[in-house]
Amino acid sequence: MRRCYLTTPIYYVNDKPHIGHAYTSLAADVLARWRRLSGDEVFFLTGTDEHGQKVEKAARDAGMDPQGFTDRVSTAFRDLTATMGFSNDAFIRTTEERHRHACQELWKRLADRGEIYLGGYEGWYAVRDEAFYGPDELTERDGVKYAPSGAPVEWVTEPSYFFRLSDWQERLLRFYEEHPDFIAPQSRRNEVIAFVKSGLSDLSISRTSFRWGVPVPGDDAHVMYVWLDALTNYITALGWPEEGEAWKFWPADVHFVGKDILRFHAIYWPAFLMAAGLEPPKRVFAHGWWTNEGQKISKSLGNVIDPVALVEEYGLDPVRYFLLREVPFGQDGDFSRAALANRTNGELADVLGNLANRTLTLIQKNCEAKLPAPAAPEGELGTLLADLPERIGQHLERQEFHLALEAAFAAARAANAYITTEAPWALRKTDPARMAQVLRRLHDALRVLATVLQPFMPGTMAAMLDQLGVPPEARGLASLAKPLPEGATLPPPVPLFRKIEA
Ligand code: MSP
Repeated sequence: MRRCYLTTPIYYVNDKPHIGHAYTSLAADVLARWRRLSGDEVFFLTGTDEHGQKVEKAARDAGMDPQGFTDRVSTAFRDLTATMGFSNDAFIRTTEERHRHACQELWKRLADRGEIYLGGYEGWYAVRDEAFYGPDELTERDGVKYAPSGAPVEWVTEPSYFFRLSDWQERLLRFYEEHPDFIAPQSRRNEVIAFVKSGLSDLSISRTSFRWGVPVPGDDAHVMYVWLDALTNYITALGWPEEGEAWKFWPADVHFVGKDILRFHAIYWPAFLMAAGLEPPKRVFAHGWWTNEGQKISKSLGNVIDPVALVEEYGLDPVRYFLLREVPFGQDGDFSRAALANRTNGELADVLGNLANRTLTLIQKNCEAKLPAPAAPEGELGTLLADLPERIGQHLERQEFHLALEAAFAAARAANAYITTEAPWALRKTDPARMAQVLRRLHDALRVLATVLQPFMPGTMAAMLDQLGVPPEARGLASLAKPLPEGATLPPPVPLFRKIEA
């Protein structure tokens, strides 16, 4: 059995979840579901990032103590996993005792190997990004300096421990070269390599001006830099450093991240791991950012998209479908209600829903609601369907979610063309035997489509498989090789997708 470990970023609990959080996790969820459908053993992790100055400040602004505040906001992220139908196997919080233990152990290993030294940090820091910036990266407006992300920076002078990142420059470059798939998409890989080639400075990995973090072992005046703490979650969750049963999942197959946090995952994280004598992850995929009706999403503009409200209004599966179909994963994209309505109406309802409804209604009326006998595949539709699971699998391994969906809908369109040219309603009088074959081929097409689309739209595809009479134990990819027995009685069809008023 193949094993697979997939992760989302752990989300800052400074504020409630928005569409960006739902998006990163959705992509990981679809791949996790696909791998399970393929028979793999999967560990899918998400969680919350609860330490650091940004969260401490948010708690203070809310008039709460940080632990009480993070307990509350973390629950909102946990609830989101249910709202979005995420199938995560675990949910980690960085305020858990096991995580503090893992962070301190990682620190000790790095210290024992001579990778850490005490010095002093003097420079710029953006609390919003929890990141250090060099003076050459900043711009100034009205006397305030800003990081490239748009976050304001402040001047920090304090004692700090440093990680010898500069020593890792050459080894990182060699690692990228030997592992061409480590960073995706390719354009992002090029950016990271150029950045590393331009020179790495040692990294400040502790802070002394606030207390909300994991204490540095042996020096209580310092708390660990929140990114060292946060990245460690990926191994804490597998039971490191005890290396128990779940440790077999390491190294991670894919860390899903947004483009804004690629540097932390593709530079710092493999350097920390290699420096501690641990294996780096296999792949980091950086997706793009959403705008809302053409505008940058920001709290100050008041246009933050609440995923819970979206699901309430449009239903879960249309939202899941839209987010992965509309924009190639890796590129920036624009969220608009008109685009969501177009995809839902033009593809889900008119192509897939219509195919299911037409086919199942004809079987009800013309075959006494009984599944016709198996018929050998035929024509273009037969070819498209035979390849479909494999093609979708290949696209998903490369995180090409939109291409996977495009392939499925090309087959659905071919099935709709088949029904139109064959006109089974007319065959009823002229050639009932052929009519039965045509309807069986269409039923088989729907079964393949509903099976491979389960990871994207789990609820609706389960309903479709119910209507198709596919028993729950025959819904994996391997079951597609076994035809359903003829004669099973099918329930009357119910429409699967509701159209959205534009
Ligand atoms: N806590 C860190 C991650 C630590 S991982 C060891 C963090 N958290 S976050 O809450 O700020 O957000 C995380 C994710 O949300 C990122 O992957 C980010 O790219 C994504 N998004 C935030 N806004 C977004 C959009 N407008 N569009 C798409 N994704 C965006 O960073």
